[in-house]
Amino acid sequence: MSSQNAISRFSLIARDSKDHLASFAEAVEAGLQGRPKSIPCRFLYDEEGSQLFEQICEVPEYYLTRAERSILEKRATEIAACFDGPLTLAELGSGNAAKTRLLIEACLHAHGRLRYVPVDISPEILESSSLALLDDYPALEVRAIATEYRASLPHVRADTEYPKLIAWLGSSIGNLTRDEAAAFLHSVRGNMSREDRVLLGIDLRKSPRELEAAYDDAAGVTSRFSLNLLQRLNRELDANFDIGAFRHSAVYCEAEGRVHIEIVSRRAQRVRIDALDMEVEFAADEGIHTENAFKYSAEEIERLAAAADLELDRGWSDVHERFSLNLLAPA
Ligand code: AVI
Repeated sequence: MSSQNAISRFSLIARDSKDHLASFAEAVEAGLQGRPKSIPCRFLYDEEGSQLFEQICEVPEYYLTRAERSILEKRATEIAACFDGPLTLAELGSGNAAKTRLLIEACLHAHGRLRYVPVDISPEILESSSLALLDDYPALEVRAIATEYRASLPHVRADTEYPKLIAWLGSSIGNLTRDEAAAFLHSVRGNMSREDRVLLGIDLRKSPRELEAAYDDAAGVTSRFSLNLLQRLNRELDANFDIGAFRHSAVYCEAEGRVHIEIVSRRAQRVRIDALDMEVEFAADEGIHTENAFKYSAEEIERLAAAADLELDRGWSDVHERFSLNLLAPA
């Protein structure tokens, strides 16, 4: 139970225009009629999928979370010191805000108080993670926004009391194509003032062996995360996917710097989706594309920043040079 004091420092704006089930149904209907078949990666994160993603962050092969955390452990104080006084820390896709605690503590230590603006699609996760933070940090204020990243930007912009640090961690940018990533960052830039900064976590290019292991771990957690999408189709849209007749696949294309993730049909088969009154035919080895995970070189990060009208102020990587954290300023 959170104290009255913690609750008085918390507010939540919920801006979720469209019904989740309706948008899932619409995306599945369009995506399974497409060639190749695809379903957007945001639908991997139902309650079960979000829990499985938290488990992925702990598996030995998925180095991204630990590498980013190690950079934050070293650099949070330096990042907080880039601001002369109190700031607003906005975080896109905050989830359970685990790594963000390092930044929150550094900002509170440097400036005495902090306004934290977490943005996440789930109001429940926002409320529980915010109240836990408010209980732990008496000089913290939280103004949570429950919506998709894009829709949050005008709200983030409207918060003008302090300069802002807009954090987008975990290499979520890698799930967008390079053009989409540049366009989204450009819209972030359009909502920034000169003194604001972006803190962007980006996974780096590396060997196919390391990347394919990171996205297909030996314990099978990533496979369960991927195939949970079919369970979700069965649960929510009355489909009859035989989960055992499909497998998870993650293949790195070095030329593109992209891990291509799909759910592959093990044999020719037909699946029925009752809620959509739809039959879907699969050939043997045919895939449903669910995710891209783009990886960046140092030059590609510079190019991305320039395309968004931003420039690299400072950049850090972990000791193994697997992951990068980038502080971007208006160009
Ligand atoms: C959320 N996102 C940054 C993860 C990634 O690394 O692309 C999603 C993921 N999918 C499978 N493993 C991790």
